[in-house]
Amino acid sequence: MKTLSLLSTIALPLAVSGNTLVKRSSGVASSGSDASGQTFDYIVVGGGLAGTTVAARLAENASMTVLLIEAGGDNRTSPLVYDIYKYGQAFGTSLCWNWRTESGKGILGGKTLGGGSSINGATWTRGMKAQYDAMASLLDPADANSGWDWNGLFTYMKKAEGYSAPNTQQKAKGAGSVASYHGTAGPVQVTFPDAMYGGPQQPDFATAIRNLTGIAQCTDLNGGNPNCVAYIPNSINWHDNDHRSSSAAAYLTPVESQRTNWLTLVNNQVTKIIFSGGPVPVTATGVSYRASSGAASYTAFARREVIVASGAIQTPALLQLSGIGDAAHLGALGIDSVVDLPGVGRNLQEQTMSQFGAGGRFDPNGSGPSDIIAYPNIDQVFGGQANAVKQTISSSLGSWAGMMASAGSVVSRSALEEIYAVQAGLITNGSVPVVEMFLSTGYPNALGIQTWNLLPFSRGTVSITKCGIMATQSADPFTPPAVNANFFKVSYDMQVQVAASKLSRKTFQTTPLSNILTGEQTPGTGTVPASATDTQWTSWIQSNFLPVSHPIGTAALMRRELGGVVDAQLRVYNTTDVRVVDASVLPLQISAHLSATLYGIAEKAADIIKAAQA
Ligand SMILES: Cc1cc2nc3c(=O)[nH]c(=O)nc-3n(C[C@H](O)[C@H](O)[C@H](O)COP(=O)(O)OP(=O)(O)OC[C@H]3O[C@@H](n4cnc5c(N)ncnc54)[C@H](O)[C@@H]3O)c2cc1C
Ligand SMILES: *[C@@H]1O[C@H](CO)[C@@H](O)[C@H](O)[C@H]1NC(C)=O
Ligand SMILES: *[C@@H]1O[C@H](CO)[C@@H](O)[C@H](O)[C@H]1NC(C)=O
Ligand SMILES: *[C@@H]1O[C@H](CO)[C@@H](O)[C@H](O)[C@H]1NC(C)=O
Ligand SMILES: *[C@@H]1O[C@H](CO)[C@@H](O)[C@H](O)[C@H]1NC(C)=O
Ligand SMILES: *[C@@H]1O[C@H](CO)[C@@H](O)[C@H](O)[C@H]1NC(C)=O
Ligand SMILES: *[C@@H]1O[C@H](CO)[C@@H](O)[C@H](O)[C@H]1NC(C)=O
Repeated sequence: MKTLSLLSTIALPLAVSGNTLVKRSSGVASSGSDASGQTFDYIVVGGGLAGTTVAARLAENASMTVLLIEAGGDNRTSPLVYDIYKYGQAFGTSLCWNWRTESGKGILGGKTLGGGSSINGATWTRGMKAQYDAMASLLDPADANSGWDWNGLFTYMKKAEGYSAPNTQQKAKGAGSVASYHGTAGPVQVTFPDAMYGGPQQPDFATAIRNLTGIAQCTDLNGGNPNCVAYIPNSINWHDNDHRSSSAAAYLTPVESQRTNWLTLVNNQVTKIIFSGGPVPVTATGVSYRASSGAASYTAFARREVIVASGAIQTPALLQLSGIGDAAHLGALGIDSVVDLPGVGRNLQEQTMSQFGAGGRFDPNGSGPSDIIAYPNIDQVFGGQANAVKQTISSSLGSWAGMMASAGSVVSRSALEEIYAVQAGLITNGSVPVVEMFLSTGYPNALGIQTWNLLPFSRGTVSITKCGIMATQSADPFTPPAVNANFFKVSYDMQVQVAASKLSRKTFQTTPLSNILTGEQTPGTGTVPASATDTQWTSWIQSNFLPVSHPIGTAALMRRELGGVVDAQLRVYNTTDVRVVDASVLPLQISAHLSATLYGIAEKAADIIKAAQA
């Protein structure tokens, strides 16, 4: 049964707040005037995955008022959002951001209530324990025990999760589960689909990739070791026809009519955070927002905090528009520096994907979503060449860091060398998966493998620009920021993509999988010959790869000297009351899809903010 949400704004009587008499409203509104001039305890910028989660937790305390502002609409009742079988149909519509990169290819994002969680593939995976522990190592030693590690985050990831273990029918098709790896009482519904594929393609893929690489098959990869091939669940709701469980469906819909202290304003984009005080530290007092470039601008005020949750591309853009960023960059745009913080928008890490497809002679027996993934480590991807590749990594870190620093992608060579040492240790020594091979029934051919480099060494930038042709015009918040992901700038990134591509092709040719296929169609040996050299592979990859749309790192949780933007309390350096809570804060990529981890970060952030209320 699908519960229809109440979309209308519930206007409440006048309420006394502090010394000011204000009109307070709740529910979901789309007119900027509904929040205009009002003061809230918290303003959360971005009603995406993390922002909706944080807003909901803060609004649990009825004496706290919360304003959540979302640039996109409220599209919870649109099948493009709730119907998981329509995955991909929202791309290219007004429900999605499409940030053009230097490659000409776009990074996608959700531009609707729920953000990415409303349009993503709903794949539910977590990274390797050591990758979460690595976060603590990039913080000030005084913050080493602040819970930014696997133990701390696993608890919060499980708090977000309402997992339903596979039933007999799903187990017969391969699904497995370890109870202690999941939370069962959280809002985000996670389970295997009723229409799970029961054909031979998923088990045969597991057998083939095990045979090729020696990778283990695990029952459940969500407990801190995903270096295996495994069936994985989705963020869908079995109580509700397997509809998508977005952050909005999970955290807002169930309480929408009860939380008279929480207003969600959609169709409005925040254009600036307003500061007082200074020089530093500065205090945010509110935000400006408007519906579109030419529309009337409004201001809402924050009594306690402004929480920026606009995602890894728009969050650094908003900070820069508000004067927080590299003072030299902002000065050139005519923006007064509020905090000189050159890490804002640097350290971008986005992944690259190549697609493989083959014809089939099998009955898929189900409609999915697809739910098996292989996560090989460096030895399993490179086989006999792995030691040489590890050697190259160890001996190249300094020159790669120098190159990235010269490109302006990080704050300094020495900072990146320190970060690289952590990343390299995990890859060469920690058995972390370096590649994802996502088996896709029915796409791009009867069977597909989407394969990507999970842990790129290339670093990129997000920077606001002068808009249009008027050289004197300063940045327009509605002009998308320039995104330079520097795809494949570090040669290792292409080396991995080539090796993963060869492995994907070989997987199709390996029994028992090859017995149910009729041969590779994408790209096909007509396009990339069976005897292709690495140079030929490189050239095909360069023209045909796609961004994975998992950007992170642009307002990183790290020491300031490393290019970090937020401290262990997720507070922006030299501000008293601005936090970032979204994918921007992840300092390093993880060997997983991001959502399960980001819910954990948002849940932890909510507790940090509540603890500061006293
Ligand atoms: C196509 C695609 C497929 C994916 N597939 C998966 C998957 O299968 N599994 C998985 O785990 N992860 C997946 N992801 C990744 C995951 O969905 C994202 O990493 C996650 O949503 C990021 O969360 P966030 O809170 O950082 O940002 P978002 O969820 O993107 O939220 C940011 C929100 O802020 C809004 N916003 C931006 N700027 C402003 C502003 N100035 N004012 C007001 N609002 C603003 C945006 O419209 C958006 O709603 C996918 C992502 C994409 C794009
Ligand atoms: C709610 O917030 C008030 C401050 O306004 C605080 O005194 C109270 O302890 C909070 N309640 C809970 C349950 O945290
Ligand atoms: C999304 O919702 C908004 C209202 O919030 C509406 O204007 C818009 O048309 C919707 N978009 C789609 C694609 O349904
Ligand atoms: C499809 O799957 C169901 C359940 O696993 C099984 O009973 C049935 O035999 C399968 N059908 C085919 C054609 O393989
Ligand atoms: C792979 O399959 C071949 C042929 O069936 C077999 O000889 C070999 O032992 C298998 N290797 C592994 C690692 O399973
Ligand atoms: C690899 O692990 C060993 C043993 O744990 C350790 O001594 C060494 O420093 C590690 N090397 C790297 C590059 O992390
Ligand atoms: C600014 O932040 C840094 C930490 O990044 C801190 O050491 C310094 O004291 C702050 N300056 C002021 C004036 O608060």
